[in-house]
Amino acid sequence: MSCTVSAAAMPLLAASGNAEESASRSSGPDEPVNISLTINGQPHNLALDSRTSLLDALRDHVGLTGTKKGCDHGQCGACTVLVDNRRILSCMSFAVMNDGREVTTIEGLALPDGTLHPMQQAFIDHDAFQCGYCTPGQILSAIGCVNEHHAGSQDEIREFMSGNICRCAAYPNIVDAIVQARDELRGA
Ligand code: FES
Ligand code: FES
Repeated sequence: MSCTVSAAAMPLLAASGNAEESASRSSGPDEPVNISLTINGQPHNLALDSRTSLLDALRDHVGLTGTKKGCDHGQCGACTVLVDNRRILSCMSFAVMNDGREVTTIEGLALPDGTLHPMQQAFIDHDAFQCGYCTPGQILSAIGCVNEHHAGSQDEIREFMSGNICRCAAYPNIVDAIVQARDELRGA
């Protein structure tokens, strides 16, 4: 397993305390659990089966379908979102584990006037997608990669983006896009 997957999985472990607190508020395993998420700056109060993944909560309960389900087993990276500004695989995280946290999805990156996030614009500038199915996860993971200071070189970007699979093999263009956005985000 790559370093990227491990790095992405660690926040899930760190969030496990919230899962226990939330589960304790449920009177039984089949009773819905009430949680609050801030998603793209908007508060959402949800009553969910405790087994609902964050991915399914976003797509099926909030209606934000920009986050994609590829494998649903933590192997492709298509479901990557930011939780408290750290990237996680949302298919591998129960929604209740994220109670009280801030979630950022692809729908929350552009400014209200439609101006794209520098990472979104860089993916367009470098033609860094073909079918686009992996792209929301690639972009969120790329933002996380830059925020984590793991985008210092093309080799480092390849290593720390290795958990995001692209069936269309747009990898060289994805790396070029991340370099451009990294420099813009850092004011280079
Ligand atoms: S859908 Fe989550 S890693 Fe593939
Ligand atoms: S652009 Fe098609 S899977 Fe990546």
